[in-house]
Amino acid sequence: LQTLPPVDLAEKYFQIFPEEMDPLWQNPCHDKRHKDIWSKEKTCDRLPKFLVIGPQKTGTSALHSFLTLHPAITSNFPSPVTFEEIQFFNGPNYHNGIDWYMDFFPFPSNVSTDFTFEKSANYFDTEVVPKRAAALLPRAKIIALLINPVDRAYSWYQHQRAHQDPAAINHTFHEVVTAGLSASKELLTLQSHSLKPGTYATHLEHWLVHYQLHIVDGALLRSNPALVMDGIQRFLGVTPIFNYTQALVFDEGKGFWCQRLEGGRPKCLGKSKGRKYPEMAPETRAFLTEYYREHNLELLRLLNRLGQALPTWLREELQSTS
Ligand code: A3P
Repeated sequence: LQTLPPVDLAEKYFQIFPEEMDPLWQNPCHDKRHKDIWSKEKTCDRLPKFLVIGPQKTGTSALHSFLTLHPAITSNFPSPVTFEEIQFFNGPNYHNGIDWYMDFFPFPSNVSTDFTFEKSANYFDTEVVPKRAAALLPRAKIIALLINPVDRAYSWYQHQRAHQDPAAINHTFHEVVTAGLSASKELLTLQSHSLKPGTYATHLEHWLVHYQLHIVDGALLRSNPALVMDGIQRFLGVTPIFNYTQALVFDEGKGFWCQRLEGGRPKCLGKSKGRKYPEMAPETRAFLTEYYREHNLELLRLLNRLGQALPTWLREELQSTS
């Protein structure tokens, strides 16, 4: 039997098993061998009970803020880099390991009815995320928000304009979504981030391999958040049932539902949520409605298969193309 010093041994090991160089973190307490070497000082429960996975621009910040009004629901500590979002499962942060992730969550209380969660909106359409999430959080509940992908794409474009993305500043939305493969790299990146998350069924199928999802109509969250929040509370099984009709107020100036403070004053999300921008050009809307037709049909079949209600915007989109 031969052996080597630790670093050489690790190098040898990964030469033989290169596929294991990319870790797949699991809960240390789910395997006795791992639990035995996991520090006694640590807990395995400093992990979220549910995830809001996005996609971006569907109302995820509004949902996040409404959830945190609930007395039994707690979000992660905010990340100094990505604002409130941790973005653990989707990118380089994953290689920081489980301790890094757990540090974003409060120590678990003894109350089993307490719910911690995190919202990272680009989890939805990053293919590796469902597998990674399921390895560490096999019992987590998952919430996805869907709005008309045409509007989602336009909202993303406006978001990038507000962030001074040169591709968004120098090109109309129509140019962005219709650009061909010979366009600049910057333009194609913007096009991809505008269009790809909206192919909902493809992304949802990756999640459905590992989880049952609660799929929320983001348009309904916008128009009737109290109704949507009741459905989410039932899905989570969280108690007490919090009365969102009392907790929220519609702000005419903002044009959105906001938190109702003492005395009835509204506390709304900041300027970057619910931006004012011109209507989408009708020819661009028509182009995108056609672009998403097959994807929306896939979504229709998927929702029917799951026995889930169809969002109004999906019915309307499919009617306008049939
Ligand atoms: P726009 O700014 O394009 O209108 P996200 O938080 O996922 O980035 O989504 C932002 C979108 O949430 C906003 O896009 C807005 O339309 C929508 N939204 C839904 N409910 C909202 C609310 N109560 N307050 C602000 N924005 C809300």
